[in-house]
Amino acid sequence: TERTLSIIKPDATKRNLTGKINAKFEEAGLRIVAQKRIQLSKAQAGAFYAVHKERPFYDELCEFMASAPVVVQVLEGDNAIAKNREVMGATNPADADAGTIRAEFAESVGENSVHGSDAPDTAKEEISFFFSGLEIVG
Ligand code: GTP
Ligand code: MG
Repeated sequence: TERTLSIIKPDATKRNLTGKINAKFEEAGLRIVAQKRIQLSKAQAGAFYAVHKERPFYDELCEFMASAPVVVQVLEGDNAIAKNREVMGATNPADADAGTIRAEFAESVGENSVHGSDAPDTAKEEISFFFSGLEIVG
């Protein structure tokens, strides 16, 4: 079993889609073993997305992530990292497979409803960015 960090982004929390998105995770066999709703500052969003700081959309991305509350969560299951990315769908909703979260809910390549870790090392880092061990109950 594996754990991954998921974020339900501001475009989705604003449209009251937390429950519908969580249902997609649970239907795919992922367990939500930690979850909290928080408001990121732009600086905190920037620290989380530091790997993207040279990208042209970095500033826009940080503004967006700080524009409304997010729900951060730890998902657990077999191959949780890959499974979560499958359930999320492609970064650009126009390219996302039918039935995926981004195909159903995302508004644009930037405002794309969810984030998911992309590898075991980043999952570990991203989980500890938001959660202490005591907050994760498998
Ligand atoms: P994450 O799970 O959020 O990391 O998405 P990803 O791995 O599918 O995409 P990537 O890591 O390449 O980009 C991180 C995030 O930056 C995306 O989810 C988008 O929110 C945002 N992003 C990526 N490309 C663009 C772009 O061309 N324009 C804008 N505005 N945002 C972008
Ligand atoms: Mg990514």
